Amino acid sequence: MSSSFGHIFRVSTWGESHGSGVGVVLDGCPPRLPLDRAAVQRDLDRRRPGQSRLTTQRDEADQVEILSGVIDHPTLGSVTTGTPIAMLVRNKDQQTGAYDHLRDVYRPSHADWTYDAKYGVRAVAGGGRSSARETIGRVAAGAVARQLLAHALGIEVIGWVDQVHDVDASVDGAEITAKLVETDPTRCPDPEAAARMTAAIEQARRDGDSLGGTVRLVARGVPAGLGEPVFDKLEADLAKAMLSLPAAKGFESGSGFAGTRMTGTAHNDPFEPGPEGTPVTTTNYSGGIQGGISNGAPIEIRVAFKPTATISSEQNTVDLENRATTLVARGRHDPCVLPRAVPMVEAMVCLVLADHWLRQQAIDVL
Ligand SMILES: Cc1cc2nc3c(=O)[nH]c(=O)nc-3n(C[C@H](O)[C@H](O)[C@H](O)COP(=O)(O)O)c2cc1C
Repeated sequence: MSSSFGHIFRVSTWGESHGSGVGVVLDGCPPRLPLDRAAVQRDLDRRRPGQSRLTTQRDEADQVEILSGVIDHPTLGSVTTGTPIAMLVRNKDQQTGAYDHLRDVYRPSHADWTYDAKYGVRAVAGGGRSSARETIGRVAAGAVARQLLAHALGIEVIGWVDQVHDVDASVDGAEITAKLVETDPTRCPDPEAAARMTAAIEQARRDGDSLGGTVRLVARGVPAGLGEPVFDKLEADLAKAMLSLPAAKGFESGSGFAGTRMTGTAHNDPFEPGPEGTPVTTTNYSGGIQGGISNGAPIEIRVAFKPTATISSEQNTVDLENRATTLVARGRHDPCVLPRAVPMVEAMVCLVLADHWLRQQAIDVL
């Protein structure tokens, strides 16, 4: 089904931007996982609109209600039960009337025309299901997956903003910590680049324009052996997960497109004997994945997000009758989606890794 993702650790998201709420049903989470509910809320807070002056000013508290699948056990504390975990966030700050001017025109580069082409009907307010509010369910479920991965394997998944428009961060991925990423509202851990990104985003908002950029992510502590050898390669599933995010336009793992400019001698990751009786690589151009399967090195990916489609500058478009017209969009929008995209990228990586780890449990039997 089009709103579900994963095989064993499986999520189904539901809800529209201006409906009564959004959420997720997460099936397949193992029982007796100690679940920190506040940590689920923390990831949602990092995704929340109105969190800083760089984001949309839609003011949603995005308080999660965990409806099922988690209990307060007398001795174990807050734990998963192994049954479906349903999580709900109610929409509070809808300004549905603000979208009336979009009822009869198609926003350039948004999902208005394609939803009409596909369904013949759509929720206009807030972009309905094409809105980034859909990702609330993913982030909530991803926060559970993050806790499962940390508890079972000590895996740590950290994303950060690496580039906004023409401003590049200069950071060593090995030194990035989750705390460092959260020190600036841009979620760029290079302070000098973060200041320039902030200025560029604020200028774009003033100009009625928007900016794109890239998120980088590292997953540390992923054991060797996760991923399937052919269609469900770890790389392929990560690519699908990332490109399923709104406004995502590109995916790279390891050296990515830059690797095409290298030679094999420079690009190959030499093996050396590792301390735990298994090989390790001395470089990581593979981004921790070889043959679609994790090799034990950190997983490193990069995701490109386009400039936000809805801008307040005048644009050419057509109306529902296919007549040429112009649009000056109103409503509250992110001038740059990058800072809020970070927890979404992390959540999707956690979902993919949790699913592949559980799949690996099914074959690690002899
Ligand atoms: C964090 C985040 C926030 C977003 N906020 C907006 C927004 O305020 N306005 C908008 O037009 N698009 C926004 N988008 C992107 C749209 O949802 C997306 O561009 C649209 O659904 C069309 O899909 P596509 O860009 O993937 O083709 C946001 C995306 C993300 C990841």
